[in-house]
Amino acid sequence: MKASKGILGAAIGALLLGSVSAYADTIKVGIIGPFSGPFALQGKNFQAGVEAYMALNGKSVKGHDIEVIYRDLPAANPAQSRALAQELVVKEKVQYLGGVYFTPDAMAITPLLKQANTPLVIFNAATSAIMTQSPLVVRTSFTTAQTTSPLGKIATERGVKKVISAVSDYGPGVDAEAAFKKAFEAAGGQVVEAIRMPLNTNDFSPIMQRVRDSGAEAVFAFLPSGPTTLGFVKAYNETGLKQAGIKFFAPGDLTQESDLPALGDGAVGLLTTFHYAVSHDSPENKKFVEAATKAVGGAEQLSFPSVGAYDGMHVIYKMIEATDGKQDAQKAVDAVKGLSWTSPRGPVSIDAETRHITENIYLREVVKGPDGKTFNKEIQTFPNQKDPGLATQ
Ligand code: PHB
Repeated sequence: MKASKGILGAAIGALLLGSVSAYADTIKVGIIGPFSGPFALQGKNFQAGVEAYMALNGKSVKGHDIEVIYRDLPAANPAQSRALAQELVVKEKVQYLGGVYFTPDAMAITPLLKQANTPLVIFNAATSAIMTQSPLVVRTSFTTAQTTSPLGKIATERGVKKVISAVSDYGPGVDAEAAFKKAFEAAGGQVVEAIRMPLNTNDFSPIMQRVRDSGAEAVFAFLPSGPTTLGFVKAYNETGLKQAGIKFFAPGDLTQESDLPALGDGAVGLLTTFHYAVSHDSPENKKFVEAATKAVGGAEQLSFPSVGAYDGMHVIYKMIEATDGKQDAQKAVDAVKGLSWTSPRGPVSIDAETRHITENIYLREVVKGPDGKTFNKEIQTFPNQKDPGLATQ
């Protein structure tokens, strides 16, 4: 095999040579996520979701043992993402790829899938357009358009007419900005200014000054969950905007449960919309939270990427079942189109056309429980929301 064929070409050759044994005894699943660095807790939640699923549903499917291989991608880095996916396919011979926290990393993997004959099940990356990049992508998280759209009406119902939006300047932020503007203006509101913040922004006081100067009655915000969101919400609380009566609307990325202890009482009253709250009241969630808490190593570390991963594993198990362990990416993806089940988040299904998850979006308020700890309390349900994102572009 000539080197000029490239590493992936060489691997496909090797796979063909090995295809006499079409049924592998062990099916390998490669999971890419931030397992170190500032976003490590998000990756840890991927792993907790995977481990919880396997603890509750077994470690084999139709007699095929499942082996999960993790690869660390600490920050958004498309070149590294592609290299890790290639290495998993070529060297580790994974039949399935999963995980992926950041949108640019998911975008970088999609061109490999067809040649690698490998589906990608996205546990988090939330830009609508990812799904259009390859027919072999399925997503079990959310899109920012999906989580944000209900907020337009929610804001006007609370008497807010003028909003300033502030989003991270990349895919999911741009989608959130567009979806909020569309929904808010349809409900009679006006977005007076739209700020886009570089992804590496960590001093938010100048942004808070612009919010104050804009004359808006509320701020709408999106940033990717992690140290960034914690910094933004802290700045909102601590620069006096909250005290000045400027309201706050955001998708639930900004009040993830693992950030709540650090936000303290300042978070009480924050309204967010999201697909999952750790407090969701159902028997399925109770079982999930118990298993995932064990896997993540403490109740206060649990957050939404765990449920994307848990349901992502459900989808991968269904794919393995449908193909009986044989590597056939298209057949695997076709098998989960229209699949519905009860997730820890509530009822869900994979939309047969977009391959994105249809789910309830909940309005939640941060409240203080009897134990003195704050949590996201679901107070309203927007049932069976598809991704409206591609229509808002
Ligand atoms: C993304 O990059 O798509 C992303 C990351 C973190 C979030 C939401 C979206 O909380």
